[in-house]
Order: sequence, then C-alpha cells, then structure tokens
Amino acid sequence: MMEYQVIENINISLSYHKLSLEIPPTAKLPLPGQFYTVRCGETKDPLLRRPFSMHRLIKRGEAVHLEILYRVVGKGTEWLSRCKAGEKINAIGPLGNGFICQEDIANVILVARGIGIAPLYGVAEAVRMRNQGARIFILMGARTKERIFYEKECSKIGRTFFYTDDGSKGFQGSGPQLLMHLMERKKLPQRFCMYACGPSHMLRDLANISEKLDLPGQVALEEHMGCGLGACLSCACPLRANYIRRDKHWEKPSLQWSEDRRQVYSLICKDGPVYDIQEVNWNDWVV
Ligand SMILES: Cc1cc2nc3c(=O)[nH]c(=O)nc-3n(C[C@H](O)[C@H](O)[C@H](O)COP(=O)(O)OP(=O)(O)OC[C@H]3O[C@@H](n4cnc5c(N)ncnc54)[C@H](O)[C@@H]3O)c2cc1C
Ligand code: FES
Repeated sequence: MMEYQVIENINISLSYHKLSLEIPPTAKLPLPGQFYTVRCGETKDPLLRRPFSMHRLIKRGEAVHLEILYRVVGKGTEWLSRCKAGEKINAIGPLGNGFICQEDIANVILVARGIGIAPLYGVAEAVRMRNQGARIFILMGARTKERIFYEKECSKIGRTFFYTDDGSKGFQGSGPQLLMHLMERKKLPQRFCMYACGPSHMLRDLANISEKLDLPGQVALEEHMGCGLGACLSCACPLRANYIRRDKHWEKPSLQWSEDRRQVYSLICKDGPVYDIQEVNWNDWVV
C-alpha cells in the first residue's frame, strides 16, 4: 500500500478522465494489463477499493508517472474525479498478470469498446518499443459517436477504425463484426495477435473468431471484481481445463478444480485480469 501524489487529473471527454500519479522511486513499475486497487474516499464509503488498469507510463526527467484512464460511473469514480494535483491517493499495486508481448511480434490488433482502451494503449506502446516496424491496428467503438473518445491518441499509435452500434461513426456493428469485415476486404494482415478489452459478449465473439481462424489473442477481464484480495470469490471465472496457460508470467495461484478435474475456476483478482483468449470458458461465463 502506498501514497501516490496526484500530478494531474483532467476531464478528457464526457465522463472520461485521465489521472496522472507520480510513482514513488521505491515502487515496482507496472506492465500493461496490470492494475491497482485505489481507495476512493476518505471514509469507509465506498468500503471496497476500486480497481484501475495501468494506462501508460511516462518518464519525465527522473520521475515516472503512472496514467490511469477512467470513466465516472458511480460513487468511487466520482470521488476520484474530484482529486486535485498535489493531493495524495492511496493505491495498492501493480497487481495481477499483464499482457505478454513477444519480441518478434509484427502485426497487432487492439479491439476496445469504450474505456476498454485503457489497458490496451500500453500494449501498443510496448509493442512499438520492441519493434519499430510492427503494424498496429486499433478497432475502437462505443454506442454512438458522442461516446467515442481518445480518437487523436489512438491515431498516434496505430491505424484506427471506429465502430458504433447505430453507425453514427464508422462501421455500424460490433468490434468482432468490424474485424471480420476488414479481414474479408483484406484491410488487415491475415496473421496477427489480438489484444482486447470490453464487455464479455464482445470478448466471447472475438474468441470464436480466434478459434475459427487460429489467431492468437489475449483479453483483459475487467467487468467483475469485489474485494480484489481473493476473499469474496465474486470474480471467479470458468476456464477451459485443456487450455490453461501457466508460466512464469501467468502463475495462476488461485485455480480451483472440481473433484473430477473437469471444471476449473480462476479468480480474476489473483490469476488475471489478463487471460489467453482461448483459456476462458466463454459458454459458462457470458450471461
Ligand atoms: C482489473 C480491472 C481493471 C479496471 N480498470 C479500469 C480502468 O482502467 N478504467 C476504468 O474506468 N474502469 C476500470 N475498471 C472498472 C472500475 O473498477 C469500475 O468502473 C469502478 O470500480 C466503479 O466504481 P464506482 O464506485 O464509481 O461505481 P459503482 O458504484 O461501484 O458502480 C456504478 C455502476 O458501474 C457498474 N460497474 C462497476 N464496476 C464495473 C466494472 N468493472 N465493469 C462494468 N461496470 C461496472 C456497476 O454495476 C454500477 O452499475 C476496471 C475493473 C477491473 C476489474
Ligand atoms: S474480487 Fe474478491 S475474490 Fe476476487
């Protein structure tokens, strides 16, 4: 648990905000996909810390700043949006596992809906740092064009395509539908690695495409979390027993197996939030 000084906390569009915190020199630096749990209030209401992903890491002279991109949706995020430069914020992290970016990665597609872009932007920056020639494509969507944000920032890091539910900006439809649309028209490379964050039904549809076309992918599951400590089990997510990926990056200390070892659950707050797109048992997960 550490105190982080607020450098800047700005409203960027509608309910979207960007918080910049100075990382204390002794603190560990996060990887894209890892998260922090933040105390969002001075009292015990809200009681639970709120989880937020690392968005970007920025080096300014000797200092390293952690950026968090967030959407105000309730009490905790409203409190956060009122924090001012110079104040201190109490956060625990970096927590969980991050995205894995291979050294030789050449073609990357990020699929985000709304605030789902928050953990993905850092992936694009990490890929670019490792391979200047990597081709990065971003599929960014929302319900309507008014809800699309971060347009300029996305265009800086990769070729960006938009989608909206009502067609008011870009393609009319979902992220997975846009992905298929672009592939069919040969506007995307035939082989790529996909990174995604957004509602679980979007991730499930991407997983189906990934399986059908044998495309690798990773997803950040950011929809469900309670205590963030492995105690309440509210973040349990079913995995596919034969697809579990466990290595030094993704240790998965919290797997819970059924007696016949056919069913396995993972706690997102401990083992996630990033999973291989084929690991998650989407049929049992998406309601
Ligand atoms: C690992 C992880 C990383 C996250 N990273 C980010 C991030 O970088 N930026 C960001 O804006 N948000 C992120 N979230 C979501 C963020 O934690 C919630 O939006 C926040 O906790 C809401 O707190 P609140 O008190 O403002 O709202 P609450 O009063 O708790 O909830 C208000 C409304 O928002 C809904 N809600 C709450 N949490 C979520 C959620 N996780 N997903 C969808 N709907 C939710 C509730 O159902 C309710 O309708 C992340 C979540 C997880 C699990
Ligand atoms: S959020 Fe409570 S166990 Fe994961």
